[in-house]
Amino acid sequence: MRAELAGLRESALAEIAACHSEGELEAVRVRYLGKKGSLNAILRGLGAQPPAERPAMGALANEVKEALVAQLDARGGALAAARLARGLTENRVDVTLPGRTRPRGHVHPLRAVEEEVVDVFVSMGFRVAEGPEIEDDFHNFGALNFPPDHPARDTQDTLFLAGDDRLLRTHTSPVQIREMRRSKPPLRVVVPGTVYRRDELDPTHSPMFQQIEGFMVDEHVTFANLKGVVVHFLRRLFGPATGVRFQPTFFPFTEPSAQFDISCNACGGSDAPDPACRVCRGRGWLEIGGSGMIHPNVLRAVGYDPEVVQGFAFGLGIDRIALLRYGLDDLRLFYDNDLRFLGQFPF
Ligand code: DAH
Repeated sequence: MRAELAGLRESALAEIAACHSEGELEAVRVRYLGKKGSLNAILRGLGAQPPAERPAMGALANEVKEALVAQLDARGGALAAARLARGLTENRVDVTLPGRTRPRGHVHPLRAVEEEVVDVFVSMGFRVAEGPEIEDDFHNFGALNFPPDHPARDTQDTLFLAGDDRLLRTHTSPVQIREMRRSKPPLRVVVPGTVYRRDELDPTHSPMFQQIEGFMVDEHVTFANLKGVVVHFLRRLFGPATGVRFQPTFFPFTEPSAQFDISCNACGGSDAPDPACRVCRGRGWLEIGGSGMIHPNVLRAVGYDPEVVQGFAFGLGIDRIALLRYGLDDLRLFYDNDLRFLGQFPF
């Protein structure tokens, strides 16, 4: 038995020294020191030894075991250290390398301008409302005092849905009707939204574009209130020195009606227009939107008494404001979804 133990020690130590991985080392440990390992196999023969020999054999077996454990630990430590060192050179990470940037989405330029415009009106006490893009003749035309034979109802302008009297709204004004029918004065409401017309796509026209409508209804509302709100809005958006003018025009749903313009911010403006200016074409003024006092027929159509309440309304194109804002001359850029263009607006 003494010889067996000595042989086991010798071969185990040789195998431990020959191990090149922690996995191999563990296999050697199990083979020699495991429950069913060689050492236990030898010890099972202890009972067959003369009783006087047994303590010495037990002590020797312990000594062998301790020697093997010590070598296993030493070799294990060395292999672990080598693994770590290898990992450090093989999987080296250069922490000074710049990180990978993830592409980040952002707000579309049209939406950014819309939000800017809405914020100015919200700061003046207007609330935001929306309406359906599929409308009917009553809301889009009839209640807005368009006579039945008005040319704006013509298929030239309006996109009708096949089969019924539904249509794609041609302006945000129908939401005036919906909001006035839903609630009672006093009202201060702005309505941003998408509108549709039968137009060919070109640098200044699109069959789909964005408008914002605004209106106020109360007792004693006058044209002076309209001017105050519109001028304040335009100067907040285009700067405090912006020139603003109102010119008479016609809309079926307002009386009197006024178009409002701002002095061109791309050239000398209204005081000293540049005849070669591409933005205002030498005129010094830029047409921004339409407005007026809500027609008594419109107030009656929603059940209001025009003798008691009055209102003003206005509407303007968001696309045009965005073009002016960013110094662009082609509306199609906003609808092409070209990320090379859209990526230049880091909002
Ligand atoms: N709805 C008109 C359009 O699309 C714009 C407009 C003009 C709206 C005058 C108004 C307004 O509320 O008072 O051309």
